[in-house]
Amino acid sequence: MAKTKILIDCDPGHDDAVAILFAARRLDLVGVTTVHGNNTLENTTRNGLAVLELAGIDVPLAAGCDEPLAQRSVGIAAMHGKSGLDGADIKPPKRRPIDTHAVDFIIAMAEKHKGELVVATIGPETNIAMALRREPRLKQWIREITVMGGSITTGNVTPVAEFNIFCDPEAAWAVFESGIPLRMVGLNVTRRTGFDQGDIDRMKASGKKVATVIADLMAFYLERQRTGYGLNVAPMHDVCAVVPYFDASLIEYLHTSAHIELTGTYSRGMTVCDQRNLKSVAATNMRNATPANCLVAVDAKSRALIDLVIGTILEYA
Ligand code: BDR
Ligand code: CA
Repeated sequence: MAKTKILIDCDPGHDDAVAILFAARRLDLVGVTTVHGNNTLENTTRNGLAVLELAGIDVPLAAGCDEPLAQRSVGIAAMHGKSGLDGADIKPPKRRPIDTHAVDFIIAMAEKHKGELVVATIGPETNIAMALRREPRLKQWIREITVMGGSITTGNVTPVAEFNIFCDPEAAWAVFESGIPLRMVGLNVTRRTGFDQGDIDRMKASGKKVATVIADLMAFYLERQRTGYGLNVAPMHDVCAVVPYFDASLIEYLHTSAHIELTGTYSRGMTVCDQRNLKSVAATNMRNATPANCLVAVDAKSRALIDLVIGTILEYA
């Protein structure tokens, strides 16, 4: 079967780096675009280029939006350190981003691969929202948008909001209301799907260049996750939204409605997903029933998913 064509819109970021490595090996990665989020656009772009160069991945990288649509930046994510990719000695990249802006690049790729392209948004959704405004035909051209973002249980940046959505709720709103088929792989599955200390040791012991760098990065990230959230894995949030295009059996979904909360004293940036299993919307006391617009991840075979990802990383020289 032909590999899925995928474009990764990201803010590297430790788990973004792993998503890029996975997509380049297991899928048909047509390009990478960068956005503000885990760090400044300048740093996420540098980090993205550094990852491509480290692994010898020859795809274009286009830099995109450096701030959210309608709010001030929420600031850099402590989890990823000062540079956005702390913990390993990665060479500064020699490569430069292409001259095209990420928004134009997304549109160009969607037009070139009409009906085939999956867009993976694993950072704030600013670039995709801007692209949708600029070229409404994207709604017909893009096959599916896969989102690492949101949650049907806990948030991380607030009790109910996940970081990528909270960084630009208006952009996420534009994506979730676009009518493009959506897959939302949220924190409820990604926070427990990660590398444990044993996985990190295994990658380090391989002595391979890429796996060693990833092991060092993940040792840093795991420590931050331990002290911040008491987790005993370094969650591989972002790759969870990409893996389904290689092995669809690893994540389970509910096909339901998902909307972005834009207001609320405590709930801005929350993903409101209907899990009521409604049988009759006419019945008493049922409110806000809207058509299903999203495959919402509810469960994952976390160990098998992580083994697949590690196997992929170990294939790099
Ligand atoms: C998301 O936020 C970022 O810090 C990660 O890269 C991931 O995309 C998890 O909430
Ligand atoms: Ca990310």
